[in-house]
Amino acid sequence: MSSLTWLDTTPSTNSAIRDGDFGHGDGVATVNQTEGRGRIGREWIEFPGRGLALSVKLDPRRFADDAPLTLVPLVAGVALVDVVERIAPNAPLWVKWPNDVYLGDHKVSGVLTELVEPGTMIVGIGVNISHAVAELPLPTATSLSIHGIDVDSIDLAEKWIERFLALVETLGTDELLNHVRRRLGLVGKQVTVEMPDNSVITGTVVDLVATGALTVDDGDQRHTVLAGDVRTLRPRT
Ligand code: BTN
Repeated sequence: MSSLTWLDTTPSTNSAIRDGDFGHGDGVATVNQTEGRGRIGREWIEFPGRGLALSVKLDPRRFADDAPLTLVPLVAGVALVDVVERIAPNAPLWVKWPNDVYLGDHKVSGVLTELVEPGTMIVGIGVNISHAVAELPLPTATSLSIHGIDVDSIDLAEKWIERFLALVETLGTDELLNHVRRRLGLVGKQVTVEMPDNSVITGTVVDLVATGALTVDDGDQRHTVLAGDVRTLRPRT
C-alpha cells in the first residue's frame, strides 16, 4: 500500500523523496515548492499555492514487464491526461513528447524523472492548477483553472498516483506504447525537432518506438530521436 505525504512547503518533492525513507509507490506532494527542478537543468517555477508538485518513488522491478525507463515520463503524462479527462472529457489535453502535458497549445504540466540508483527511480510531476494568467511563469504556460477545469490538488495527486502505478504495474511495453501513441497525437504530423546539439530535423513523425524515441522521416532518412524539443508545424488544438 503506497503512502502520500503532504508537505506545507519543500524545495523539491523529488529531493524530499530521494532523501526520505520511502518505498515503491510512495509519494510526496506540496503546493508550495520553492526550488523545483525541470528537465535539462532548467527550473520549475511555482507560484505559491497555485501548482501541484508531486513525486513518486518507483522500483522498476515492480513493473509489469521490463518496459524501458525512458518510456516512463511519457506514461506519467498519459496518467495525468487520463485523470483530468475524467473530470473534463472535452479538454484538449495531450502529451507533448518527451515530458510535458499540454492543454491546447500551452503547457500545463511537466515531468522530471531521475534515476537515483539502479532500482530506484523518482518521477516528479508539476501541474499548474489554479494560476491566473498573470501568475504563470511563461507565456507558453497555462493552468487547469484558466480552462475552466477545477480540481482539488489532493484529489488529483491521489488519482494520478493510482493511475500511474496501475499503468506501469499492469501493462506490458506494447500496451503502454499504445496508450502513449494515442495521447501524443504526433504520428503522421510534420514537426521540427531541435536536437540537444542544436541541429534541427524537420520531417514527419513515423512512430514512437519502445524506448520512447520518436522516428522522424525527413524525406531522405529516418532519424531516431531520444531527446530534443519538438514543435508541430500546426499545433493540435
Ligand atoms: C520540466 O518541465 O522541465 C519538468 C518539470 C518537473 C517539475 C516537477 S514538480 C515535482 C518535481 N519536483 C521537482 O523539483 N521537479 C519535479
